[in-house]
Amino acid sequence: MDIRKTIETLFPALEEIPEGARIRQAVEQREYLVNGGMVRWEGPVQDVFSPVCVRTATGYERVRIGSFPLMTEKEALTALDAAVAAYSNGRGAWPTMTVAKRIEHVQQFAAGMKERREEVVKLLMWEIGKTRTDAEKEFDRTVVYIADTVDALKDLDRVSSRFVIEQGIIGQIRRAPLGVTLCMGPYNYPLNETFTTLIPALIMGNTTILKPPRHGVLLFSPLLDAFRASFPPGVVNTLFGAGRSVTPPLMRSGKVDVLAFIGTSTAANALHKEHPKPHRLRMVLGLEAKNPAIVLPDADLDQAVEECIAGCLSFNGQRCTALKVVFVHEGVAGDFVSRFSRRISGLGIGMPWEPGVMITPLPEQDKPDYLAGLVEDARRLGAEVMNEGGGTVNGSLFHPALVYPVNERMRLYREEQFGPVIPVIPFSDMETPIRYIEESDYGQQVSIFGRDPQLLAELIDPLVNQVSRVNLNCQCQRGPDIFPFTGRKDSAVGTLSVSDALRAFSIRALVAAKDIDINKGIISDIVREHRSNFLSTDFIL
Ligand code: G3H
Repeated sequence: MDIRKTIETLFPALEEIPEGARIRQAVEQREYLVNGGMVRWEGPVQDVFSPVCVRTATGYERVRIGSFPLMTEKEALTALDAAVAAYSNGRGAWPTMTVAKRIEHVQQFAAGMKERREEVVKLLMWEIGKTRTDAEKEFDRTVVYIADTVDALKDLDRVSSRFVIEQGIIGQIRRAPLGVTLCMGPYNYPLNETFTTLIPALIMGNTTILKPPRHGVLLFSPLLDAFRASFPPGVVNTLFGAGRSVTPPLMRSGKVDVLAFIGTSTAANALHKEHPKPHRLRMVLGLEAKNPAIVLPDADLDQAVEECIAGCLSFNGQRCTALKVVFVHEGVAGDFVSRFSRRISGLGIGMPWEPGVMITPLPEQDKPDYLAGLVEDARRLGAEVMNEGGGTVNGSLFHPALVYPVNERMRLYREEQFGPVIPVIPFSDMETPIRYIEESDYGQQVSIFGRDPQLLAELIDPLVNQVSRVNLNCQCQRGPDIFPFTGRKDSAVGTLSVSDALRAFSIRALVAAKDIDINKGIISDIVREHRSNFLSTDFIL
């Protein structure tokens, strides 16, 4: 079958889109949240076109699904002023509030958020082409993350609700907020990864500015009201527009205390450099990765192929944790490649709402050409596309390409493709993948497929010093969310997990006093009369 033709039949006509998948009305967002109020935007807007195309009489067209404000430096600084005022050098109502009270606000937000699930899920499908199953997973995982964060903070707070007496000093040690936090998530997990920094930042008492990613903006629109209703003025402020116009002025002001950013190291470095006192800036960053899989000669190939399919191609390979290069021992490389190619042929390719699809339209307009360029470069240097129709482009759809054999002269060897192209490198000597990892700029994770406990152990010991997670016989991934998520080298700054994130967005602070009668009297009085929210033995149940 002509694969190109098949792909061309995948885009529907408007009337063929099932009722339950349609966005009834384009989302023309004209409001943003600043200082507890929704402000009407009258300036220029950015149209949003879906990666999903529709068939028309004249060809294929991306569907226009809405628009959002293109805010400027002026509005950015107003949002910043609101966050600065709400924090008020740590004197604001939010940073001085009891942990129990802040938890109530976050829970109120979570309840409001849950009511908007279907709208957010649909926007995830239409804005970034995420399958319905994955979009629902992203939403639900985020709701669970919030609940788990609340539980983790209760645990942390219980431990801090007591005094430590050491060497004649009485101390109470807790965690205090850091200040104004700018939260920026990535387009591939616009909701989840934004919230995995925003929620811990908030619950620890920081005030925030939320700037959605380039793609995946409209899906925040159904949540603005829950933010407004759940938090005191200035605690959550939103910023819409081009990152390059609205974020540098924030950093230049020197008033951003924490930068929580998931994206490229180039963008993170540029923002960091803008801060007049960069040493004051706490950074929590999730950056690039090129996670390798290593398939050893004794691997269970069926299992390795299944995990590599999921690792390389879930959400079209657009995950920071995706497997982006596969090293296969030459003894099994031929077998692996033919099984992998067959498996790709069976993958569902189509629109995000269709059951069973895995490959969907790509949100970045120039991505198919970029990926085609990588494949072309590898072909020119001697590799082949091993699967039928691999690399076929039709509009925003890119048919996955299994490229083999890849070597160090090809761009695919080092570049993070962030898309459905799978470079396979055959090796005979274990030194080959190990050297690759050592020489890589990235150090997030690795997956090893094999059965020999001795060999696996010999690989684990050095590899945990190169990357942050070694996965045995399974793909790389962030979850479960209680596991630490970080990376070495250019892949991350700071560690996130439900409990680690609470630490990332706070600093230890303590009240200490000499263990003498006068101090004992003062402390007892403060605690008994509930005079302080910090110096307190209240126990959250
Ligand atoms: O894009 C990077 C995400 O953190 C990956 O999360 O491994 O759960 O898909 P995941």
